[in-house]
Amino acid sequence: MKAICVTPGRELEVRDVPTPTAPAPGHVLIDMDASAINHGDKTFLRMPAAAGNALALDRHNVWGASGTGTVVAAGAGVPAEYTGKQVAIYRSLGRSPESIGLWCERAQVPYSTCLILPDHVRARDYCGSLVNVMTACAFLEEITAAGHRGVIVTAGNSATGYALAALARSRKLPAIFLVRTEGAREALCRLGVEHVIVTSEGFTDTLGVLSAELGTTAVFDGVGGDLVTRIAPVLPMNSTIYLYGLLGGAVAVSIQSALFMMKNLTVRRFSNFESQTVKDHDKLVTALKALEGVIDNRMFTTRIGKEFRLDQVELAMAYESLDGAKAVLLT
Ligand SMILES: NC(=O)c1ccc[n+]([C@@H]2O[C@H](COP(=O)([O-])OP(=O)(O)OC[C@H]3O[C@@H](n4cnc5c(N)ncnc54)[C@H](OP(=O)(O)O)[C@@H]3O)[C@@H](O)[C@H]2O)c1
Repeated sequence: MKAICVTPGRELEVRDVPTPTAPAPGHVLIDMDASAINHGDKTFLRMPAAAGNALALDRHNVWGASGTGTVVAAGAGVPAEYTGKQVAIYRSLGRSPESIGLWCERAQVPYSTCLILPDHVRARDYCGSLVNVMTACAFLEEITAAGHRGVIVTAGNSATGYALAALARSRKLPAIFLVRTEGAREALCRLGVEHVIVTSEGFTDTLGVLSAELGTTAVFDGVGGDLVTRIAPVLPMNSTIYLYGLLGGAVAVSIQSALFMMKNLTVRRFSNFESQTVKDHDKLVTALKALEGVIDNRMFTTRIGKEFRLDQVELAMAYESLDGAKAVLLT
Protein backbone atom coordinates (compact mmCIF):
# COMPACT_ATOMS: atom_id res chain seq x y z
CA MET A 1 0.00 0.00 0.00
CA LYS A 2 0.97 3.65 -0.36
CA ALA A 3 2.17 5.33 2.83
CA ILE A 4 3.81 8.60 3.81
CA CYS A 5 6.91 7.72 5.80
CA VAL A 6 9.49 9.60 7.84
CA THR A 7 13.05 9.53 6.52
CA PRO A 8 16.11 9.44 8.85
CA GLY A 9 16.46 13.21 8.27
CA ARG A 10 12.83 13.62 9.44
CA GLU A 11 11.48 14.54 6.01
CA LEU A 12 8.38 12.88 4.55
CA GLU A 13 8.31 10.63 1.46
CA VAL A 14 5.74 8.39 -0.21
CA ARG A 15 6.73 4.71 -0.10
CA ASP A 16 5.18 1.30 -0.75
CA VAL A 17 4.90 -0.69 2.49
CA PRO A 18 3.23 -4.07 3.22
CA THR A 19 -0.55 -3.88 3.74
CA PRO A 20 -1.52 -5.28 7.14
CA THR A 21 -3.99 -8.14 6.82
CA ALA A 22 -4.28 -9.74 10.28
CA PRO A 23 -4.88 -7.35 13.18
CA ALA A 24 -2.84 -7.79 16.37
CA PRO A 25 -4.75 -8.45 19.61
CA GLY A 26 -6.50 -5.31 20.86
CA HIS A 27 -5.98 -3.60 17.47
CA VAL A 28 -8.17 -2.74 14.52
CA LEU A 29 -7.33 -2.45 10.82
CA ILE A 30 -8.78 0.70 9.30
CA ASP A 31 -9.21 1.52 5.64
CA MET A 32 -8.36 5.19 5.81
CA ASP A 33 -10.57 7.85 4.26
CA ALA A 34 -9.04 11.18 5.30
CA SER A 35 -6.42 12.67 7.62
CA ALA A 36 -6.35 16.33 8.64
CA ILE A 37 -2.92 17.82 9.19
CA ASN A 38 -2.93 19.25 12.70
CA HIS A 39 -0.27 21.42 14.36
CA GLY A 40 1.06 18.34 16.17
CA ASP A 41 1.78 16.53 12.88
CA LYS A 42 4.17 19.35 12.00
CA THR A 43 5.59 20.03 15.47
CA PHE A 44 6.38 16.40 16.37
CA LEU A 45 7.96 15.78 12.94
CA ARG A 46 10.48 18.55 13.64
CA MET A 47 10.72 18.04 17.43
CA PRO A 48 9.76 14.48 18.46
CA ALA A 49 10.01 15.34 22.18
CA ALA A 50 8.04 18.62 21.97
CA ALA A 51 5.61 17.31 24.62
CA GLY A 52 8.36 15.75 26.74
CA ASN A 53 7.88 12.08 25.99
CA ALA A 54 8.88 11.37 22.37
CA LEU A 55 6.52 9.21 20.33
CA ALA A 56 8.24 6.24 18.69
CA LEU A 57 7.86 5.66 14.97
CA ASP A 58 6.19 2.45 13.86
CA ARG A 59 8.02 -0.37 12.07
CA HIS A 60 7.49 1.22 8.63
CA ASN A 61 7.95 4.82 9.90
CA VAL A 62 4.45 5.79 8.69
CA TRP A 63 3.47 9.30 9.84
CA GLY A 64 0.08 10.79 10.77
CA ALA A 65 -1.87 10.89 14.03
CA SER A 66 -5.40 12.09 13.16
CA GLY A 67 -7.88 10.70 10.69
CA THR A 68 -11.05 8.85 9.86
CA GLY A 69 -11.75 5.55 8.17
CA THR A 70 -13.68 2.30 8.37
CA VAL A 71 -12.77 -0.64 10.60
CA VAL A 72 -12.29 -3.64 8.29
CA ALA A 73 -10.94 -6.16 10.82
CA ALA A 74 -10.60 -6.42 14.59
CA GLY A 75 -8.05 -8.41 16.62
CA ALA A 76 -8.70 -10.59 19.65
CA GLY A 77 -10.19 -8.72 22.59
CA VAL A 78 -11.66 -5.84 20.56
CA PRO A 79 -15.34 -5.22 21.38
CA ALA A 80 -17.53 -6.52 18.54
CA GLU A 81 -19.21 -3.13 18.02
CA TYR A 82 -16.12 -1.72 16.23
CA THR A 83 -16.22 -3.97 13.17
CA GLY A 84 -17.55 -2.24 10.05
CA LYS A 85 -17.93 1.12 11.79
CA GLN A 86 -16.64 4.50 10.65
CA VAL A 87 -14.29 5.86 13.29
CA ALA A 88 -12.37 9.02 14.17
CA ILE A 89 -8.82 8.18 15.21
CA TYR A 90 -6.15 9.91 17.27
CA ARG A 91 -3.24 7.54 17.19
CA SER A 92 -1.33 9.05 20.13
CA LEU A 93 -4.06 7.97 22.58
CA GLY A 94 -2.28 4.61 22.74
CA ARG A 95 1.35 3.77 22.17
CA SER A 96 1.81 0.33 20.69
CA PRO A 97 4.67 -1.30 18.75
CA GLU A 98 2.02 -2.89 16.49
CA SER A 99 0.60 0.47 15.35
CA ILE A 100 0.90 1.66 11.78
CA GLY A 101 0.53 5.45 11.33
CA LEU A 102 -2.51 6.94 9.64
CA TRP A 103 -1.10 8.52 6.47
CA CYS A 104 -1.49 5.34 4.47
CA GLU A 105 -4.20 3.22 2.88
CA ARG A 106 -4.71 0.79 5.77
CA ALA A 107 -3.70 1.72 9.33
CA GLN A 108 -3.43 -0.50 12.40
CA VAL A 109 -4.07 1.04 15.84
CA PRO A 110 -5.31 -0.03 19.29
CA TYR A 111 -9.12 0.16 19.35
CA SER A 112 -8.90 2.58 22.28
CA THR A 113 -7.49 5.23 19.92
CA CYS A 114 -10.76 5.23 17.96
CA LEU A 115 -14.12 6.83 18.53
CA ILE A 116 -17.06 5.18 16.78
CA LEU A 117 -18.87 7.78 14.67
CA PRO A 118 -22.63 7.62 14.21
CA ASP A 119 -23.74 6.40 10.76
CA HIS A 120 -25.52 9.69 10.01
CA VAL A 121 -22.38 11.89 10.06
CA ARG A 122 -19.85 12.25 7.23
CA ALA A 123 -16.67 10.72 8.68
CA ARG A 124 -14.42 13.15 6.78
CA ASP A 125 -15.87 16.04 8.80
CA TYR A 126 -14.11 14.55 11.85
CA CYS A 127 -10.76 13.76 10.24
CA GLY A 128 -8.83 16.06 12.57
CA SER A 129 -11.22 16.17 15.49
CA LEU A 130 -10.46 13.47 18.03
CA VAL A 131 -7.17 15.00 19.24
CA ASN A 132 -8.89 18.30 19.93
CA VAL A 133 -12.05 16.84 21.44
CA MET A 134 -10.06 14.52 23.71
CA THR A 135 -7.72 17.37 24.72
CA ALA A 136 -10.66 19.50 25.82
CA CYS A 137 -12.31 16.54 27.54
CA ALA A 138 -9.17 15.46 29.44
CA PHE A 139 -8.46 19.06 30.38
CA LEU A 140 -11.91 19.52 31.92
CA GLU A 141 -11.50 16.28 33.86
CA GLU A 142 -8.12 17.45 35.17
CA ILE A 143 -9.16 20.95 36.23
CA THR A 144 -12.38 19.76 37.84
CA ALA A 145 -10.40 17.23 39.88
CA ALA A 146 -8.01 20.06 40.84
CA GLY A 147 -10.97 22.04 42.24
CA HIS A 148 -11.43 24.66 39.51
CA ARG A 149 -15.00 25.76 38.83
CA GLY A 150 -14.56 27.80 35.66
CA VAL A 151 -12.23 28.27 32.70
CA ILE A 152 -10.76 30.98 30.45
CA VAL A 153 -9.96 29.84 26.91
CA THR A 154 -7.30 31.95 25.16
CA ALA A 155 -7.59 30.41 21.67
CA GLY A 156 -11.35 30.83 21.51
CA ASN A 157 -11.55 30.47 17.73
CA SER A 158 -9.47 27.29 17.49
CA ALA A 159 -10.63 23.68 17.15
CA THR A 160 -9.62 23.02 20.77
CA GLY A 161 -11.49 26.17 21.82
CA TYR A 162 -14.68 25.05 20.05
CA ALA A 163 -14.46 21.56 21.54
CA LEU A 164 -14.01 23.03 25.00
CA ALA A 165 -17.01 25.32 24.47
CA ALA A 166 -19.28 22.37 23.69
CA LEU A 167 -18.02 20.24 26.59
CA ALA A 168 -18.03 23.06 29.16
CA ARG A 169 -21.62 23.82 28.25
CA SER A 170 -22.68 20.20 28.72
CA ARG A 171 -21.04 20.27 32.18
CA LYS A 172 -22.58 23.67 32.98
CA LEU A 173 -19.08 24.94 33.70
CA PRO A 174 -18.66 28.72 33.31
CA ALA A 175 -16.25 29.54 30.47
CA ILE A 176 -14.88 32.75 28.95
CA PHE A 177 -13.53 32.70 25.38
CA LEU A 178 -10.93 35.16 24.09
CA VAL A 179 -10.86 35.79 20.34
CA ARG A 180 -9.01 38.19 18.08
CA THR A 181 -11.85 39.42 15.84
CA GLU A 182 -15.46 40.50 16.00
CA GLY A 183 -16.26 37.86 13.34
CA ALA A 184 -14.92 35.08 15.57
CA ARG A 185 -16.94 36.46 18.48
CA GLU A 186 -20.13 36.53 16.42
CA ALA A 187 -19.57 32.98 15.17
CA LEU A 188 -19.23 31.63 18.72
CA CYS A 189 -22.23 33.65 19.94
CA ARG A 190 -24.33 32.28 17.05
CA LEU A 191 -23.53 28.81 18.37
CA GLY A 192 -24.88 29.80 21.77
CA VAL A 193 -21.59 30.56 23.55
CA GLU A 194 -22.32 33.15 26.23
CA HIS A 195 -19.06 34.82 27.27
CA VAL A 196 -16.83 35.83 24.35
CA ILE A 197 -14.39 38.75 24.59
CA VAL A 198 -12.43 40.26 21.70
CA THR A 199 -8.84 40.93 22.77
CA SER A 200 -8.86 44.56 21.63
CA GLU A 201 -7.57 47.58 23.61
CA GLY A 202 -8.82 47.50 27.22
CA PHE A 203 -10.31 43.98 27.11
CA THR A 204 -8.51 43.01 30.32
CA ASP A 205 -10.86 45.27 32.36
CA THR A 206 -13.87 43.30 31.09
CA LEU A 207 -12.03 40.02 31.62
CA GLY A 208 -11.06 40.95 35.20
CA VAL A 209 -14.65 41.71 36.20
CA LEU A 210 -16.18 38.69 34.45
CA SER A 211 -13.57 36.18 35.64
CA ALA A 212 -14.01 37.33 39.26
CA GLU A 213 -17.78 37.00 38.90
CA LEU A 214 -17.65 33.54 37.28
CA GLY A 215 -14.69 32.20 39.27
CA THR A 216 -12.78 31.11 36.17
CA THR A 217 -9.51 30.09 37.84
CA ALA A 218 -8.27 27.66 35.16
CA VAL A 219 -6.78 29.07 31.96
CA PHE A 220 -6.78 26.77 28.90
CA ASP A 221 -3.98 28.50 27.01
CA GLY A 222 -3.35 27.60 23.39
CA VAL A 223 -1.66 30.91 22.51
CA GLY A 224 1.00 31.90 25.07
CA GLY A 225 3.30 34.91 24.66
CA ASP A 226 1.83 38.37 24.80
CA LEU A 227 -1.74 37.28 25.49
CA VAL A 228 -0.76 35.43 28.67
CA THR A 229 1.38 38.40 29.73
CA ARG A 230 -1.66 40.66 29.37
CA ILE A 231 -4.24 38.50 31.15
CA ALA A 232 -2.11 37.30 34.11
CA PRO A 233 -2.60 40.48 36.19
CA VAL A 234 -6.42 40.26 36.03
CA LEU A 235 -6.89 36.56 36.82
CA PRO A 236 -8.76 35.61 40.01
CA MET A 237 -6.89 34.42 43.12
CA ASN A 238 -5.58 30.84 42.97
CA SER A 239 -5.58 30.71 39.18
CA THR A 240 -3.61 28.16 37.20
CA ILE A 241 -2.50 28.85 33.64
CA TYR A 242 -2.26 25.55 31.74
CA LEU A 243 -0.08 26.01 28.64
CA TYR A 244 -1.16 23.48 26.00
CA GLY A 245 -0.55 25.20 22.64
CA LEU A 246 1.84 27.52 20.87
CA LEU A 247 -0.30 29.49 18.43
CA GLY A 248 1.43 32.72 19.55
CA GLY A 249 4.82 31.39 18.43
CA ALA A 250 8.06 32.00 20.29
CA VAL A 251 7.05 35.26 22.03
CA ALA A 252 8.03 35.14 25.73
CA VAL A 253 5.55 35.32 28.58
CA SER A 254 6.39 37.99 31.16
CA ILE A 255 4.83 37.87 34.63
CA GLN A 256 6.06 39.84 37.65
CA SER A 257 7.18 37.67 40.59
CA ALA A 258 4.85 39.68 42.84
CA LEU A 259 1.84 38.39 40.88
CA PHE A 260 2.72 34.78 41.72
CA MET A 261 2.80 35.78 45.38
CA MET A 262 -0.31 38.00 45.41
CA LYS A 263 -2.53 35.64 43.44
CA ASN A 264 -1.03 32.30 44.34
CA LEU A 265 -0.66 31.93 40.58
CA THR A 266 0.55 28.67 39.02
CA VAL A 267 1.80 28.10 35.47
CA ARG A 268 2.12 24.57 34.12
CA ARG A 269 1.77 22.58 30.94
CA PHE A 270 -1.15 20.46 29.82
CA SER A 271 -0.58 17.59 27.41
CA ASN A 272 -3.48 15.35 26.46
CA PHE A 273 -1.40 12.17 26.40
CA GLU A 274 0.07 12.90 29.83
CA SER A 275 -3.43 13.35 31.32
CA GLN A 276 -5.02 10.74 33.58
CA THR A 277 -7.98 10.49 31.20
CA VAL A 278 -5.70 9.27 28.40
CA LYS A 279 -3.08 7.36 30.39
CA ASP A 280 -5.57 5.23 32.32
CA HIS A 281 -7.03 2.73 29.80
CA ASP A 282 -10.38 2.37 31.60
CA LYS A 283 -10.81 6.14 31.90
CA LEU A 284 -9.94 6.53 28.22
CA VAL A 285 -12.51 3.95 27.12
CA THR A 286 -15.13 5.60 29.36
CA ALA A 287 -14.32 9.04 27.94
CA LEU A 288 -14.53 7.75 24.34
CA LYS A 289 -17.91 6.15 25.07
CA ALA A 290 -19.24 9.38 26.56
CA LEU A 291 -17.96 11.41 23.58
CA GLU A 292 -19.58 8.97 21.14
CA GLY A 293 -22.97 10.14 22.43
CA VAL A 294 -22.31 13.84 21.74
CA ILE A 295 -19.87 13.85 18.81
CA ASP A 296 -22.49 14.83 16.20
CA ASN A 297 -22.27 18.42 17.45
CA ARG A 298 -20.93 20.71 14.71
CA MET A 299 -18.57 22.33 17.25
CA PHE A 300 -16.52 19.12 17.13
CA THR A 301 -16.13 18.97 13.36
CA THR A 302 -12.88 19.68 11.52
CA ARG A 303 -12.69 22.85 9.42
CA ILE A 304 -11.50 21.49 6.08
CA GLY A 305 -9.43 23.97 4.06
CA LYS A 306 -8.15 22.01 1.05
CA GLU A 307 -7.98 18.33 0.13
CA PHE A 308 -4.79 16.69 -1.19
CA ARG A 309 -3.78 13.23 -2.43
CA LEU A 310 -1.13 11.31 -0.48
CA ASP A 311 1.47 12.03 -3.16
CA GLN A 312 0.84 15.78 -2.68
CA VAL A 313 1.99 15.66 0.93
CA GLU A 314 4.58 18.42 0.46
CA LEU A 315 1.92 20.84 -0.76
CA ALA A 316 -0.40 19.73 2.03
CA MET A 317 2.25 20.34 4.72
CA ALA A 318 2.91 23.82 3.32
CA TYR A 319 -0.80 24.72 3.12
CA GLU A 320 -1.94 27.58 5.37
CA SER A 321 -5.41 29.09 5.46
CA LEU A 322 -6.44 32.48 6.75
CA ASP A 323 -9.25 31.10 8.87
CA GLY A 324 -7.51 28.16 10.56
CA ALA A 325 -9.04 25.55 8.21
CA LYS A 326 -6.80 22.51 7.76
CA ALA A 327 -5.16 20.61 4.92
CA VAL A 328 -6.63 17.11 4.54
CA LEU A 329 -4.95 14.09 2.95
CA LEU A 330 -7.37 11.82 1.13
CA THR A 331 -6.63 8.13 0.73
N1 LIG B 1 -1.17 19.89 24.46
C1 LIG B 1 -2.06 19.17 23.80
O1 LIG B 1 -2.44 18.10 24.25
C2 LIG B 1 -2.58 19.72 22.51
C3 LIG B 1 -3.62 19.05 21.85
C4 LIG B 1 -4.17 19.62 20.69
C5 LIG B 1 -3.63 20.81 20.19
N2 LIG B 1 -2.57 21.37 20.83
C6 LIG B 1 -2.01 22.65 20.36
O2 LIG B 1 -3.01 23.61 20.57
C7 LIG B 1 -2.87 24.68 19.66
C8 LIG B 1 -4.22 24.91 18.99
O3 LIG B 1 -4.52 23.82 18.13
P1 LIG B 1 -5.90 23.82 17.33
O4 LIG B 1 -5.85 22.68 16.38
O5 LIG B 1 -7.03 23.93 18.28
O6 LIG B 1 -5.75 25.19 16.54
P2 LIG B 1 -6.52 25.65 15.22
O7 LIG B 1 -7.86 25.04 15.14
O8 LIG B 1 -5.63 25.47 14.06
O9 LIG B 1 -6.66 27.19 15.55
C9 LIG B 1 -6.50 28.14 14.59
C10 LIG B 1 -7.22 29.42 15.02
O10 LIG B 1 -6.65 29.91 16.24
C11 LIG B 1 -6.63 31.31 16.18
N3 LIG B 1 -5.26 31.78 16.41
C12 LIG B 1 -4.18 31.54 15.69
N4 LIG B 1 -3.11 32.20 16.19
C13 LIG B 1 -3.56 32.85 17.22
C14 LIG B 1 -2.95 33.72 18.12
N5 LIG B 1 -1.66 34.05 18.05
N6 LIG B 1 -3.71 34.23 19.06
C15 LIG B 1 -5.00 33.91 19.16
N7 LIG B 1 -5.63 33.08 18.34
C16 LIG B 1 -4.91 32.57 17.37
C17 LIG B 1 -6.98 31.76 14.78
O11 LIG B 1 -8.26 32.32 14.77
P3 LIG B 1 -8.36 33.93 14.52
O12 LIG B 1 -7.52 34.25 13.34
O13 LIG B 1 -9.82 34.17 14.35
O14 LIG B 1 -7.81 34.55 15.77
C18 LIG B 1 -7.00 30.48 13.98
O15 LIG B 1 -8.03 30.44 13.03
C19 LIG B 1 -1.75 24.27 18.71
O16 LIG B 1 -0.55 24.88 19.15
C20 LIG B 1 -1.68 22.76 18.90
O17 LIG B 1 -0.41 22.24 18.63
C21 LIG B 1 -2.05 20.86 21.97
